[in-house]
Amino acid sequence: MSDIRSRYSDELSFFGANTPAQLLEKWGSPLYVYNENVLRRRCRELMALSAHAGFGVNYSVKANANPVLLRIIREEGLVVDAMSPGELYLDKLAGFTPDQILYIANNISPDEMRQALEQGVLVSVDSLSQLETLGRLNRGGRVMVRFNPGIGAGHHQKVVTAGKETKFGVTPDLLDEVLAILKRHDMRLAGINHHIGSLFMEADGYIAAASVLLELAERLPADVLRGLEIIDFGGGFGIPYHKYEGQPRLDMADLAEKLHALISDWSAKTGYAGRFLVEPGRYVAAECGMILTGVNNVKYNGDTCYVGTDVGFNVLARPAMYDSFHDLEIYAGPAGTADRAEKEQTIVGNICESGDILAKKRLLPALHEGDILGILDAGAYGFSMSSSYTQRCRCAEVLIDAEGKARLIRRRETPEDLARCYAVD
Ligand code: LLP
Repeated sequence: MSDIRSRYSDELSFFGANTPAQLLEKWGSPLYVYNENVLRRRCRELMALSAHAGFGVNYSVKANANPVLLRIIREEGLVVDAMSPGELYLDKLAGFTPDQILYIANNISPDEMRQALEQGVLVSVDSLSQLETLGRLNRGGRVMVRFNPGIGAGHHQKVVTAGKETKFGVTPDLLDEVLAILKRHDMRLAGINHHIGSLFMEADGYIAAASVLLELAERLPADVLRGLEIIDFGGGFGIPYHKYEGQPRLDMADLAEKLHALISDWSAKTGYAGRFLVEPGRYVAAECGMILTGVNNVKYNGDTCYVGTDVGFNVLARPAMYDSFHDLEIYAGPAGTADRAEKEQTIVGNICESGDILAKKRLLPALHEGDILGILDAGAYGFSMSSSYTQRCRCAEVLIDAEGKARLIRRRETPEDLARCYAVD
């Protein structure tokens, strides 16, 4: 079998001792495949961003919550966040202890707050009223407050999470009110955090926002600053999705230099001896994950060549939701000797909506029924955003371990799984 477009996965030996065809044959299509070596490499790059004693990496689990991957991430020394009872449960299942988990909440009910507190994790709230609620539930306890630095960033308006046009965070002008609520409930401000948005490819915006958070920390009364344990700058670290066009990576050396200088200088100036966290999700998990699928159908509607697969937006929501670009690899199926001249093709899924488009008008070697496609950079916000829309069972997940061996880390759902929660006899 000759692969048509597979340079990226070949260079990484992404599939280890297996071919994409073997993996699909064993576990069915579509299939999420993760590579352990790539995951560990990304974790190590992040952990190396600063040698400052208090520096740490808080993996944002929303990107991918598979507990087998979480265990690898834990082995690499990262801690984790959670933003729902489900994420908290999976964090603990993966072996994280309550002191290694931050509950970064947004608009949660008093009941959910209570549950998180009962589990012994530090809760971050992002409004005055949520702070009040937590104060009533946790008088004399510790709390983290999420601020909005007024600087947003992101690959799409839907993922910018700071600035005036978003629902997130407490604006710095409300600091006095925050302090008053803390006092009223005898609470200690154990942490401050923010998250400006998702997917930046240059360090400067992130560093500028981090400086704003540090300026805010400096405005805290001396006794409050002394009690502060965590300053968390949030995530957003981008990855190059346009791999076959040679898109450059985020310059981690530049980011490391600027971040390390910022936190070291600030600690020296203020005497702060607590932790500094960054909170990436995508950077940790995106590149270690690919989706494999077969080409089921090729047809023309007018001038448009549609290539039909079973990766609908139930499997990968990002293209339909944000017009996101995912690069594609092509591994030849039985029609290996067929015409492979490049042409524009629109790759679609099997959902009954015309927005079910995976890749629009892509210039690629001609695809044929029976070919196998690899969808790159699907490890973050891929499976975690997948659904059972149209009652398609969520697909299996497989890990290629450090020795190149493949193992199932989540089985494919079955129709019985779909039926389990309904109240039918
Ligand atoms: N911390 C907080 C509080 C967050 O809300 C997020 C992401 C992160 C950290 C991690 O951000 P990252 O490093 O992954 O950019 N579904 C979208 C991305 C949504 C991000 C939501 N919050 C996508 O597929 O692009």
